[in-house]
Amino acid sequence: MFKLFNWDEKMSIDKDVIDDQHKTMMMSANLLFESLSKGKSKDVIIGGINCLRNYILEHFDYEIAYMKKHNYPALEEHLKSHEEFLNKYEEFLKRVKSKEVSGELAVEIYSFISNWFISHIENENIRYHDFWKNKEA
Ligand SMILES: [Fe+2]
Ligand SMILES: [Fe+2]
Repeated sequence: MFKLFNWDEKMSIDKDVIDDQHKTMMMSANLLFESLSKGKSKDVIIGGINCLRNYILEHFDYEIAYMKKHNYPALEEHLKSHEEFLNKYEEFLKRVKSKEVSGELAVEIYSFISNWFISHIENENIRYHDFWKNKEA
C-alpha cells in the first residue's frame, strides 16, 4: 500500500486557486496510487496517469500565465522545469502502455510522482511564497 497524500495547512501558499489545484492534484494522485497498490488493470492505471496529467497541465498553464502577468523573473527556468517533468511523465506513460505494470514499475511511478509533488509544493512555498504573496489573482 502506497502512502497517500494528506492536505496539510503547511502546504498552503495562501493563494486559493493554486491551493485548490494542488488539492485536486493530490486527490487524483491518491486515486492513481490506490490503483497501483491494488494491482488494477493497465487501462485503469493509464486512465489515472492521464487524469493526473490533465490536472497538472491545467495547473502549469495557470501558473505560467500568472507568472507572465506579474513578470516573474525566473520564468524561462521555470518553463524548462515543467518541460523536464512532463517528458519524464510521458516516459512513464509509454512504459505502462508497452508492458504489464509490474510491482517494480508501480513503485517507480509512485516514487516519481510523490517525490516530485512534495518538492513542487516545497519549492512553491520556499521560493515563490514572497512572489505570490502580495499579488492579486
Ligand atoms: Fe511550476
Ligand atoms: Fe504548484
